Amino acid sequence: MIITIDGPSASGKGTLAKRLAEYLGFAHLDTGALYRAVALSLIMQKKDPSDVAAAKAAAQTLDFDTLDNPDLRDEKTGKIASLVAALPDVRAELLAFQRNFAKNPPGGKKGVVIDGRDIGTVVCPNADIKFFITASPEIRASRRLLELETRGKPVDPGQILKAVQDRDARDETREISPLKPAQDAHLLDTTNLDIDGAFEKALVILNKTGLFQKL
Ligand code: C5P
Repeated sequence: MIITIDGPSASGKGTLAKRLAEYLGFAHLDTGALYRAVALSLIMQKKDPSDVAAAKAAAQTLDFDTLDNPDLRDEKTGKIASLVAALPDVRAELLAFQRNFAKNPPGGKKGVVIDGRDIGTVVCPNADIKFFITASPEIRASRRLLELETRGKPVDPGQILKAVQDRDARDETREISPLKPAQDAHLLDTTNLDIDGAFEKALVILNKTGLFQKL
């Protein structure tokens, strides 16, 4: 059973994916962390994100078991991630891992929840249920701001809104695997919803699709 959740940054997709995976007893994969790990590797090697060979090598040698470095969540890492994510060589290197995760959920789990930008469109086009999560750029910027403040990394609110909008533009307009809803995705706008509200709406949709009967 494969559930995909795509959407822009800070739309709430990661939190929703984690929560659904816990509730259903499924494995969860945050694919943004893969692109962030490639970005962090380049930052640590002091390589430029436009260095395709270095980015490809970073993707090839990624240790999928160590995706918990707190620096992955930094604003700079997110920005560089969206630059390397536009490189076909990097995407190709990460595709097999994502598809294998979907096919063979770790820990013998009976399903997966995978979140990202192109999961319902490219990585798992035959997924059982697809969500596309959105929220206004302003509310996403305020969530991001709160997250960074909580981590002791305060930033200028105007800068964050611009960073969110720049990243949206890069992710939506790139040639390869741009951010867009799959035709058969269920749209969920979390602008006026908190985490519980988004989770409940997702459960209503899952119920309507008959997912619980299939489990
Ligand atoms: O979701 P997150 O903000 O962690 O993703 C970081 C960046 O990785 C995104 O801005 C996007 O460019 C890229 N990404 C992607 N495809 C995915 C997941 C993330 O291109 N499936």
